[in-house]
Amino acid sequence: MPQQYETLLLERRDRVAIVTINRPDKRNALNIKVVITGAGDKAFIAGADIAEFAGRTAMMQRDVMTARSLFTAIDTFPKPIIAMINGYCLGGGCELALACDLRIASEAASFGQPEINLGIIPGGGGTQRLTRLVGEGKAMEMILTGDIIDAKTAFAIGLVNHVVPADLLEAKTMEIANRIVTRSPIALGLAKEAVKLASRSNLDEGLRREVDLFALCFSTEDKDEGVSAFLEKRKPEFKGK
Ligand code: COA
Repeated sequence: MPQQYETLLLERRDRVAIVTINRPDKRNALNIKVVITGAGDKAFIAGADIAEFAGRTAMMQRDVMTARSLFTAIDTFPKPIIAMINGYCLGGGCELALACDLRIASEAASFGQPEINLGIIPGGGGTQRLTRLVGEGKAMEMILTGDIIDAKTAFAIGLVNHVVPADLLEAKTMEIANRIVTRSPIALGLAKEAVKLASRSNLDEGLRREVDLFALCFSTEDKDEGVSAFLEKRKPEFKGK
């Protein structure tokens, strides 16, 4: 049974945790309480709760964005995080998906940064992470027009890793998650850190830090286990040590 919070469901399936944003009547709009799939079959997350914008001053909004830092928490979390996108993935919802490590979408999903329609711009990393993922031209078009694109287009521009029929979304996501969790958790964390460095550092610094992170793997029991298992032609059993 999923553990239930006011706007969040947390379910553990063996070594994979599923976090469901649970405000289907508001298309899973992100209010402050929410911290990665959306409940219901319509929306992943329809964006920030626009009702909370009304009457907010610049300083209030700034405090909300910096105190919450949900996107940074996801981004820097030492375990892989997959966004399972079942419907509308708009505004802050798209930004949340962008902060995740992989994005798996249903054919029914749609994507957009429609903030421009409200007279504002993306503020949860949309101008930065989307641009790094799909390139300046595509990001600029999405952000300046506020247009919503379908899942196939999102796949074509590299915004999502896979698009599958709605009824196969969970199975595909769990298949990938279950393959990832058989790997060394330490190596996964270091790999995530190293890959994310690519868009945040120059090539020389990135390559230098990659070598450091690579060398760090040699301090782990998991590296000994991985190498031994290969040489002994058996499956490794990683312990996260
Ligand atoms: N913030 C607050 N409430 C939202 C919301 C959001 N981002 N997105 C949807 N809702 C609410 C609607 O106000 C409506 O509430 P109500 O039933 O109390 O009137 C409810 O969710 C259902 O929305 P509705 O528009 O009727 O559903 P739909 O399926 O026809 O359309 C969307 C879904 C997502 C396309 C549409 O709601 C929409 O465009 N939302 C805003 C998206 C956006 O601009 N996000 C960026 C915010 S920065």
